[in-house]
Amino acid sequence: MTGGGKGDGTGDRTVTDEVVDSLRGADDPRLRELLTGLVRHLHAFARETRLTQREWERAIAFLTVTGKACTDTRQEFIMLSDVLGLSMLLEMINDRHGPGATESTVLGPFHMTESPGRELGADIDLVGGGEPCVVSGRVLSRDGGALPGATVDVWQADGHGFYDVQQPGVQPPGNGRGLFTADGDGRFWFCTCVPSPYPIPTDGPVGGLLRATGRHPYRPAHIHFIASAAGHIPVTTHIFVAGSEYLDSDAVFAVKPGLIADFAPVDDPESAREFGVANPFRHARFDLVLEPA
Ligand code: BEZ
Ligand code: FE
Repeated sequence: MTGGGKGDGTGDRTVTDEVVDSLRGADDPRLRELLTGLVRHLHAFARETRLTQREWERAIAFLTVTGKACTDTRQEFIMLSDVLGLSMLLEMINDRHGPGATESTVLGPFHMTESPGRELGADIDLVGGGEPCVVSGRVLSRDGGALPGATVDVWQADGHGFYDVQQPGVQPPGNGRGLFTADGDGRFWFCTCVPSPYPIPTDGPVGGLLRATGRHPYRPAHIHFIASAAGHIPVTTHIFVAGSEYLDSDAVFAVKPGLIADFAPVDDPESAREFGVANPFRHARFDLVLEPA
């Protein structure tokens, strides 16, 4: 280390400068840019908050248990990024969708298993018991045309607010999930149960963080989608149930008004028969509009 000001950076050459200089040899210029920014901001954070050794040890212990809480079916780091609003910030920074295209929102930690391929119209609620519901729409290009053969990957929690991977042995694998291929007009439709609001898992370190900061863990009722089509930018998004609790206080800050859909009540035995659901049911119509690549 050279120069003065080694401790708090009050000298003309700081430990921050030294670390930044040490990154000059990175072959990848983007890696160098990212690490330089990270070091500068981390050091500024430590100076600004006068971070103590004990506090940093506590933070390291927190990150360690966060890593240990990750399994093949649980991603605690994604949840940490989500509750800190970083996932949503990245969605906004990287958003390449023009006006009229479906907005993106967070992926969340439960898209860890491949959705089973299903026929159009299939019921993804393998357990039953929830309020029956049909979701239908078209996959369209922002240029206006239908996107036949587009892929619509869907996943949602059951009527009690749990994903299949959270309840092995209780829910069958693939419950609440489906991979659909849009028809020749870009249409997709499937049956499910009306999702309900649910708390994100709170039995790990992220739950502790929420409790320590007096925050609730709830997400408004939603269904997740990833829509993809040749020549278009895929969109990762949700549809939120209009009127759901927590639309204005989502634990992961992921609600965008354009993603809220009416799950309209339908009492029509004929159309219930056509869709293969019990009458009465609810029907959400929502088009997925993709940006050309
Ligand atoms: C979800 O919607 O599946 C989710 C998103 C962020 C954190 C936890 C769950
Ligand atoms: Fe979810």
